[in-house]
Amino acid sequence: MNDLQLGVVVDGTFNGGLTVRLHPGTSTEGLRIGSFVVVEGQRNRYFSLISDMQLNATDPRLLTNPLQDASPFVVQALAGTGTYATVQVRPMLMLEKPDESDPKALLQSQSGPQPVKTIPMHLATLREATELDLATVFGAEGGTNFAMGTPLTMDIPICLKLDRFVERSNGIFGQSGTGKSFLARLAISGVIKTKAAVNLIFDMHDEYSFDKQTEDGTWVKGLRDIFGPQVLVYSLDEQMGRRPGRNVDVTLKIGLNQIEEADVVLLTEELNLRQTAETTIGLLRDTYHEEWLIKLLEMTPEELEDFCRKSGAHAGAAGSLQRNLKRLQRQAYIVREANFSALDDMVESLDRGKHVILLFGRHNDVLDYLLVANLVTRRVRERYEDKMRHYEETKDIADKPRPLMITIEEAHKFLNPNVARQTTFGAIAREMRKYNVTLLVIDQRPSGIDPEVMSQLGTRISGKLTEERDIEAVLTGVSNRSALRGALETLDTRQEILMMGHAVPMPISLRTRPYDETFYRAMSTTLPMGKGSEITARDLFGDG
Ligand SMILES: Nc1ncnc2c1ncn2[C@@H]1O[C@H](COP(=O)(O)OP(=O)(O)O)[C@@H](O)[C@H]1O
Ligand SMILES: [Mg+2]
Repeated sequence: MNDLQLGVVVDGTFNGGLTVRLHPGTSTEGLRIGSFVVVEGQRNRYFSLISDMQLNATDPRLLTNPLQDASPFVVQALAGTGTYATVQVRPMLMLEKPDESDPKALLQSQSGPQPVKTIPMHLATLREATELDLATVFGAEGGTNFAMGTPLTMDIPICLKLDRFVERSNGIFGQSGTGKSFLARLAISGVIKTKAAVNLIFDMHDEYSFDKQTEDGTWVKGLRDIFGPQVLVYSLDEQMGRRPGRNVDVTLKIGLNQIEEADVVLLTEELNLRQTAETTIGLLRDTYHEEWLIKLLEMTPEELEDFCRKSGAHAGAAGSLQRNLKRLQRQAYIVREANFSALDDMVESLDRGKHVILLFGRHNDVLDYLLVANLVTRRVRERYEDKMRHYEETKDIADKPRPLMITIEEAHKFLNPNVARQTTFGAIAREMRKYNVTLLVIDQRPSGIDPEVMSQLGTRISGKLTEERDIEAVLTGVSNRSALRGALETLDTRQEILMMGHAVPMPISLRTRPYDETFYRAMSTTLPMGKGSEITARDLFGDG
């Protein structure tokens, strides 16, 4: 018997998956839920996941009257006759096997793995996957194939197809400490390195730009440290740039005149606004247009009273709105008036292929984050909309805006069902890259995100989740949920992920690629190390 063989198919349905009886020599302890295995049918090879395991006994007396302290010899004698184990296997993709007697067919069979349309017959063999199987399904490193980790029980790089990744909005999930921010830095590095898209990153916790200490006390590099001037750093905090080794390119100021109704509504909770706030703001806008906020904040009590009388606003409501909004005025990065030139320059830099990180520094309250990220993103989207319209007129490929990926941590704050309809982020997530803009949402509580948004996410990468509703949320709109649920639940709490969706041919559990010196080196060389021979510059950098 081939030592890769694990067992044979004894039962199964197309919808429910296959039951495989393990060979007596195969222990369930050597297998893992969610691991990638192969079923050899007669005409097809089925790339599959292990979704469950079960122990069985042929003789029910063994269960009613178990042998206590059975000697190893007895256990061994029973194995495969009296006792046996089965695993549930879920085929995900299949590959038609070439008819080896016919050399012509061998040449033609290059279509690659397809969605499963059949199941194998009884006694088809289940075996461990080989390096070749993984390469057949996931492709080799190079071009826009970017290694994200290795399978849990093997040492072979598994790639994310970054060209497909940037076609849709994506999500990175997992409870706190599972490695979400590290994963995001890995994926974004890949996008920068392969030029698959440009990035705008809202760096609330100061972890994407410059070096940062990990939970183990070591220091890891930021994206600016790795990619140098390809990455521009914008900061809300003037003091940020004064620290040694940290070069901030632009200090950003936000004008009261730039703040819109929707920005304030998003801050309802943070600013303790009453339900009446929206109505009052509406009335203010009707009267003062863009200047509504400045006017409101600068009104004397008499002027406010006068405004209420004329507009019909409730005096109590207007007074309380004024008091609450004064908090905005006190933020150090807020000025009375600002124009959009800094943000418009930023969009031009993005369109020239630069990446932008917006640092919050000391202004890392949820209030600052929500306000600034939403406002900046609105402007970016408007400019992208203009660019796209221009491109549609000229039809000149040089006018087509570069794909832009916007990264937000704590995504549920912008995308929960109460606000997702009003935030720019909600609009971007729903409109499926109409303007060549997509999101990378990072969250530890995916159940807090609007299900409509979740269902739009093309690729999902998740670390361990334990809350039932978070697991449900991550698997929204994914087929084979029951098989994947087990894979999610059995991940380690750190550096293990399940990767699924648009940018991978089938779901797979991985040990995350280490973000370390080796990684930085791989990012700073122009050609991928090792297997780079067959990769051309065009593969790496695209046509643009
Ligand atoms: N790919 C990785 N390479 C090296 N260390 C990692 C990696 N992923 C996670 N870690 C370790 O796990 C810790 C938590 O990761 P982090 O990304 O900050 O978690 P999260 O954002 O999910 O809370 C890090 O401080 C680091 O020590
Ligand atoms: Mg984090």
